[in-house]
Amino acid sequence: MEYRVQIAPSMLAADFLHLDRDVELVNQHADAFHLDIMDGIFVPNISYGFPIVEAIAREAKKPLDAHLMIVHPEKYVDRFAKVGVDMLSFHLNAVENPGQVLAQIWAAGMKPGLAINPDIPVENLFPYLDQCHYVVLMSVFAGFGGQKFIEATYDRLKTLKTEIDRQGIECHIQVDGGVSAANASRLVECGADILVAGSAVFKAEDPAAVIAAMR
Ligand code: DX5
Ligand code: ZN
Repeated sequence: MEYRVQIAPSMLAADFLHLDRDVELVNQHADAFHLDIMDGIFVPNISYGFPIVEAIAREAKKPLDAHLMIVHPEKYVDRFAKVGVDMLSFHLNAVENPGQVLAQIWAAGMKPGLAINPDIPVENLFPYLDQCHYVVLMSVFAGFGGQKFIEATYDRLKTLKTEIDRQGIECHIQVDGGVSAANASRLVECGADILVAGSAVFKAEDPAAVIAAMR
């Protein structure tokens, strides 16, 4: 069965002592692996790096979607391509020339995405939408899992969706942060194509049921 919305569990909330089990859950029930890469500089937190990404890549049967919350993402594009990442996003304000980095990601054979935090006007993305495979609309401030969903996201999402339709382009919208079965349907109604969920999935008693409920 084809679903309109894709569910990408954030592995930040996985159990790293039982990563095989959590990778299998995504393989069987979800659509992509969302990999949060934090450097302690662009965001105050440090997550994980290549050893974990490589381990997940070895067992993954679904696409890898890496979300770079780091300074100088352009330095690591080739490395992520080599690991087998399919979708690679970075933050608009982490680079001087977003268009150049988007082109670099396309050239490396991956699908580029541009991310923005909740305090950055969605309009700042407009000049780059036609160069993106997707945009990452943060519904919490990047840096930590388990934060509360910011309600202003719905209006931002609608504005973004309207502009993508106006431009007549195929740019997907990913919503990231505090997403759960409680807000999934409204997000899809407002134009979301990919939902990232960490805590809601992995901290649940029955993660597969949560993914099913989100669809
Ligand atoms: C936040 C990350 C998110 C986060 C999602 O910096 O980009 O991907 O891990 O986790 P939850 O769903 O717990 O907010
Ligand atoms: Zn993320």
